[in-house]
Formats: sequence, C-alpha cells, structure tokens
Amino acid sequence: MAAPSDPNRVVIFDTTLRDGEQSPGCSMNPGEKMEMARALADLGVDVIEAGFPIASPGDFESVRAIAREVRGPIICGLARCNPADIDRAAEAVRDAARGRIHVFLATSAIHREFKLRMTPAEVVKRAVEGVKRARGHCADVEFSPEDAARTELDFLTEVVEKAIEAGATTLNIPDTVGYATPAHYAAVIRHLKTHARGIDGVVLSVHCHDDLGMAVANSLAALGEGARQVECTINGIGERAGNTALEEVVMALRTRQDFYGLTTGINTRLLYPLSRKLSHITGMAVQRNKAIVGQNAFAHEAGIHQDGMLKERSTYEIMKPEDVGIPRTELVLGKHSGRHALKQRVADLGYHLTDEQLNRLFDEFKALADKKKDIYDADIEALAENQLQAGAGNTWTLAGFTSTAGTGSQTSAAVSLRLADGRVERDAAVGNGPIDALFKAVNRITGIEVKVVDYRVRAVTQEIDAQGEAQVEIEYKGKLSRGRAVSVDVIEASALAYLEVINRVASRQLRDRLKPTDHVAPEVVPVI
Ligand code: KIV
Ligand code: ZN
Repeated sequence: MAAPSDPNRVVIFDTTLRDGEQSPGCSMNPGEKMEMARALADLGVDVIEAGFPIASPGDFESVRAIAREVRGPIICGLARCNPADIDRAAEAVRDAARGRIHVFLATSAIHREFKLRMTPAEVVKRAVEGVKRARGHCADVEFSPEDAARTELDFLTEVVEKAIEAGATTLNIPDTVGYATPAHYAAVIRHLKTHARGIDGVVLSVHCHDDLGMAVANSLAALGEGARQVECTINGIGERAGNTALEEVVMALRTRQDFYGLTTGINTRLLYPLSRKLSHITGMAVQRNKAIVGQNAFAHEAGIHQDGMLKERSTYEIMKPEDVGIPRTELVLGKHSGRHALKQRVADLGYHLTDEQLNRLFDEFKALADKKKDIYDADIEALAENQLQAGAGNTWTLAGFTSTAGTGSQTSAAVSLRLADGRVERDAAVGNGPIDALFKAVNRITGIEVKVVDYRVRAVTQEIDAQGEAQVEIEYKGKLSRGRAVSVDVIEASALAYLEVINRVASRQLRDRLKPTDHVAPEVVPVI
C-alpha cells in the first residue's frame, strides 16, 4: 500500500485474527473467523491480518477463504523470513482483491544472539531476501523487525533502509515485548523519520503490546511523530497482556481530533457491537471498567457527576455512548414481533446470517418469547451466536440430557449426543453436583478428557426469567479453550458450553492427525 494521499489519514491494521487469535483461550474456528472478518470490513478497517498461513492447514484455509470472500480491506498473511513461509502466505492471499504479505524477522541483540543465532549482517541479508521474495509475489509487502523497540537504533535504521530498498511498502516497528514507554517509542519513530533513507516513501507502522499497560499510549505517541498505520485488535486481545486496543486508539483520535488532527475510516458506531461479538465468540469477557466498550464505560454513579450530567451532559461526558454503538434503549422485541423486525435487529447488531440461519433463529426466538416476556438485545445476540456455533461443523451435538440433584442424594446425569452422521450415543455418570456429573457423562461418550479451569454462569439480562449464560474454560495439552452458551435452563447452557469446547478439542485432534509436516519451515523460531 502506497502512502495514503491524505497525510492525516491513519491506516487501521487489524490483527485480531492473527496476533489476537493466537493468545490463550482466543482461538476461533474458520466460520467464526469469517464472521469476524466480515464484521471488520463493515467496521471500516483498512487491513485485516487474517492469519499465519504456514502455521497449519486450517490457518491457511482460513486466510484463503477470507481473501476470496471479504471485500474492502486489504487481506494480509503473516510469514517468517524464509521461502516456505513467504510462498505459503502468497498462495493464501493470492485471490484477494488487494492482498499483502507481512514478513518479519527479529533484529534485537537478544533475539539475534539467543533465538536466531545470526550476526547483524546475516539478519540484514535474510531480511532483504525475504522482502524481495515477497515482492516477487505481491506488490504490497510489509516488513517488521521483530523486537524493534529493543533493537540498537543504528542497526534498526540500517535494517529499515535495506528493507525499503528491497521493496517493502510498509515498515512496521513492533514493541514485541511491551517494553517501550511513550517518550521512548516516540523517540524511536522520530529517529527513523529523520535518519532512515526512503522512510517518507513508505507507510510507517506501529505494533505495541500491553505488558506495561502502555500499548495505546505508545501507539498514539508514535502517531504524533509521523507513524501512519496502527496495528491493533478488538478489545485489545493478544499475546500475554494483549495488543493495542482498536476501539481505544480510534476513539482517542476522534475525541482528541483537536490535538492529533488525524482521522481513520472507522464507523465508530460499530465498535460496541463488534466488541460484544468477539467476546461472545471467544468466551472472553470484557472487564466492566474497560475503556470505550466496558459495561461501566458510560455509567455515572457518583451523585455529583449525576447532577452535572442532568444539567449538561458535557460536564462529565467526553464521548456519547451512541457514538460507539451502545444502544440507547435495550428493550426491542416481544412475542408478537415479526420476522422482518427480527432480521433487521440481527443485522443492526452486526451479524451476517444466511436465510437458513435466520429461519432457525426466528423459530428459536418464538420459542424463547413463549418462555420470557421481553426479549433484549443480549438475548438476540445469544440466539445469533448459537446459530454461528451450530454452523461450525461440530462433531457432537446435544440430543438430550437429564440430571438429578437434591439434598442428601447422589447427583447424576444422563446425556445423549448426536454425531454428524446422525448416530446417537448415550451414557451416564455420577459426580459432585449436577454439572460435574454432566461433564463426566460427556467425557465418557466422547472419550475426550480435559481439565476444567474455570466455569461461570451469569444472567444475560436482569429479570428473574433471564436466560443464563454458561462459560467454561478448559485446558487440553497445555492450550486453553473457552466455550459459552445461553439457555433459559442453566444446566442445558452448561452442557452446550462444555460441548462447544469438546468440539474444539475434537477438531484440533483431527487437525493434528491431518497436519502435513512438510508445510512447516525448518526454522529455529517455532512460535511468535
Ligand atoms: O509482536 C510482534 O513483534 C509481532 C510481529 C509478528 C509483528 O506480532
Ligand atoms: Zn505482536
């Protein structure tokens, strides 16, 4: 991507599906990734980093499917600096209307010495070869000197210059370990802006991690020095403490236009729906006091503040909730609402469902409306999520269950699960409480044993007849995975949530069995 013609326009590069997705408990199936990619396109991001194609056949397919289907943003695939990775990424983004290959190689002394075991000259050579190879496939190439924030400034400048000479069109400066502070990071960007030959002909990009809680502040400081692309994720999900939160950086630029004078192409009214969608898909809750999209972000509790708000909102409000898409009124539909109203509401909440999914959702909506008088947005989101989950090619679905519990009696559960070919398998178990018994019965049928590390139930809305949302977090072979489900019956919600993670494990087992080892490059860097 050439430098945008408007010098004040900031390119929003979303990496929720790559840096975000690889963080513990945030993995998504291909259908969920596609849904997120469509929603990111609606949001108006400029670039979607859709995945790391060499990582697995599943990652490759997912990037390729997004490149083929999603229009609007540039679709980017990540690659380490070696031919196998780069060729695989090129193949994955080949069918995009606008594709990008993002090549990275570590440059800091620590990484050179202990991880790569390469001299500075070897690093430069490898970077140049990688960028040239990527340019052979694609006109849009981004290069990242990994751990740039801890790289000696002179060496960083040299690598950046050589990557530009080799054909990189975007130069990204990652603070890979979240070590930078705003003044330090701004100084790095300023140094590159004034010393690196060719820097004004490319887009200078920033990529910050939040280990010290400064990812957004660092990104903004870099923009102040002339960087014009920000790499970020929805809800700030990502490796360890996460990445720069997209919603925070975008709203900071918008709210403080007076100070930064910069713009983005983001439709901010879709920020809150997309935050909710991601949280539902991954099962990772957004903390209540999270800036912009947390439940308390616009709640004024203190008497003095409430008094000020009643007199004049701007006394205590710097952004309007509706600017980020927080609905003014929550109560939407009821028993007599029609198909059209429901369809419209589902679309307003940012879901892309097929006609078949909408028909099933309508049936579930009517069934729910028989049990519960008022249907809120949160209920509709839950029904839409159930549809997306139902389409995820699950191995097992819940055919039925019974559970018994009571003071002084042993708790037990009997469960029937349906396989994709229609066969139904049944088993029963006793346990310490109905949920334990239920999970054990599922384990007996599926033969999958996982460690449950967290389990929660909460009401989706506030009335006594509210639907219950169950969230289950499990560990399997050292990887965390989350499932969530909603039902008016919390035991059923628990069974469905548990089954969601069991299905994730089942498809992971299948992928592991199918994984061709010849796609994995003989590199010393197994993970990023
Ligand atoms: O944090 C990092 O350095 C990365 C690179 C791959 C850009 O995610
Ligand atoms: Zn990163």
